[in-house]
Amino acid sequence: MIVYLVTGGAGFIGSALVRRLLARADVTVVTVDKLTYAGNLDSLGAALDHPRHRFEQVDIGDAARVRALFDAYRPDGVFHLAAESHVDRSIDGPGAFIETNVVGTFTLLQEARRHWTARDADGRAAFRFLHVSTDEVFGSLGDTGAFTEETPYDPSSPYSASKAASDHLARAWHRTYGLPVVVTNCSNNYGPHQFPEKLIPLTILNALAGLPLPVYGRGENVRDWLYVDDHADALITAMERGRVGETYLVSGREERRNLDVVRAVCRLVDEMAPRPGAAPRESLITFVTDRPGHDHRYAVDSSKIQRELGWRPRESFESGLRATVAWYLENRAWWERVRSGGYRGERLGLEQATAGR
Ligand code: NAD
Ligand code: TYD
Repeated sequence: MIVYLVTGGAGFIGSALVRRLLARADVTVVTVDKLTYAGNLDSLGAALDHPRHRFEQVDIGDAARVRALFDAYRPDGVFHLAAESHVDRSIDGPGAFIETNVVGTFTLLQEARRHWTARDADGRAAFRFLHVSTDEVFGSLGDTGAFTEETPYDPSSPYSASKAASDHLARAWHRTYGLPVVVTNCSNNYGPHQFPEKLIPLTILNALAGLPLPVYGRGENVRDWLYVDDHADALITAMERGRVGETYLVSGREERRNLDVVRAVCRLVDEMAPRPGAAPRESLITFVTDRPGHDHRYAVDSSKIQRELGWRPRESFESGLRATVAWYLENRAWWERVRSGGYRGERLGLEQATAGR
């Protein structure tokens, strides 16, 4: 039996990964999650009661508790996804991003290293620490070109700067201590269970409720979208076949302007949840003040992971977006519950005068 720790497993991408890992008969999964506003046990669903799954509510910055987890479960690998993940929140309150993404990753690396060092030679050779990161560490592109594994780091937001810091730590723990680290940097994800503060789920829920659909600036910023299950498959591929010390960029190479994404969501909601006699949802689009430091364009060349490890995305943006809208329509109970906390869909990230920590 292979034992994996998945940090952030109650979040959007982590919960998709846990489900896919449990589908393998020889894998036991330990989900390690603090359950912040973004983490929900509901997202794990049936996985919670699965005989090969354990849930541990632990902050990755709590060294004593993280050490106890390594001692208790003796994992063969760590998928490290736990993070503060929303750019707009990082503008309003960067402190939590430094604490979890930077200091939390440092703590986890130290405890992983302690665990790895104590293993026997076979155990050390088999162990992997997969550090899961974002394309946002590379900053913004102009109208052409794409990020590759060689692109220099140039992060713009507190979020992307904190992820860049954590990537450097992960690589340094490999180079300095020999910890078998693999790093992935993925483009924007979308799909079921994404917290409705991010563009696609926020647009779906506001369109359903007949509320304004906020588009930052002129909606001309470009993101490269990947369906969440395709990302989960890439992470499993990188864990199983990735070369130690290497970085792999992951994307669907599905570049879209934000305005086109919002329009596509509107058309799908009109089709799947028609409001007879009402104006098309596109009429709800509202251009609002741009995000400070808003990166113009992301595009990711994922040919290395495709060529060397044989990973390929399965969903197109059209098929994945249709599945996503259908999921939010069918899972009202999930999003009503996750929204019953502090966040109700309001605008974040305008850097209010009372700067939060
Ligand atoms: P998410 O915000 O949905 O989930 C993050 C999870 O981490 C939550 O369950 C939260 O409770 C948990 N968490 C936060 N702080 C913690 C702490 N101190 N200790 C333990 N758990 C903690 O995020 P996501 O979108 O699923 O992203 C997961 C990872 O993938 C992040 O590292 C993110 O940077 C990376 N990533 C995300 C995207 C994207 O488009 N969403 C793209 C590329 C990379
Ligand atoms: P987001 O989902 O926050 O992801 P990221 O900032 O990590 O790329 O935003 C995606 C894009 O959509 C980004 O260019 C900002 C823009 N955006 C809007 O136009 N309106 C919104 O309400 C939100 C949340 C984002």
